[in-house]
Amino acid sequence: MVEENITFPISAIEKGVVIDHITAGQAMTIINTLNLTSRDYLIMLGINLPSISMGKKDIIKLENYTLSEDECNIIVVFSPKATVNVIDEYKVFKKLKPELPERIENIGQCPNNRCITNHENIGSLFIVNKHGSKEIHLCCHYCKKEMCFYNFS
Ligand code: CTP
Ligand code: ZN
Repeated sequence: MVEENITFPISAIEKGVVIDHITAGQAMTIINTLNLTSRDYLIMLGINLPSISMGKKDIIKLENYTLSEDECNIIVVFSPKATVNVIDEYKVFKKLKPELPERIENIGQCPNNRCITNHENIGSLFIVNKHGSKEIHLCCHYCKKEMCFYNFS
């Protein structure tokens, strides 16, 4: 599509993943939730880039890394319009449209300090509920703590 071809100084990657059309301001939340800085690959990050369709958008490029299906789908919680592009030999090899999952397992951390998942060796588990078109709730399976996310983009 021509419309996103506004130039900005983030280079193309040879192989990896580009998370594009992220709601402006949400890239850091995605990076933290998916714990993307815990590994050793190169990450390029653009925040508040101009976009014709969205006004402003964020973008994350991960070199030599693939997202799992679960990692891909959790992005929708923070960014309903996000696309995940799998890049190989400098070409877009696959374009994925993440879908809101029913549950999120072993990704992210419960914000309740007293939650058992923060004290024992138990993976996190959140149940996802959509309220209307803009509101998404994640409920911790163990302590029932609810987190609300609003998407107005
Ligand atoms: N991209 C990249 N490195 C490459 C190829 C593409 O970083 N070797 C990035 C582009 O900068 C863009 C995204 O991957 O942000 C998707 O590329 P492409 O499908 O070519 O762009 P658009 O057509 O604008 O995407 P869409 O149709 O999703 O708007
Ligand atoms: Zn909890």
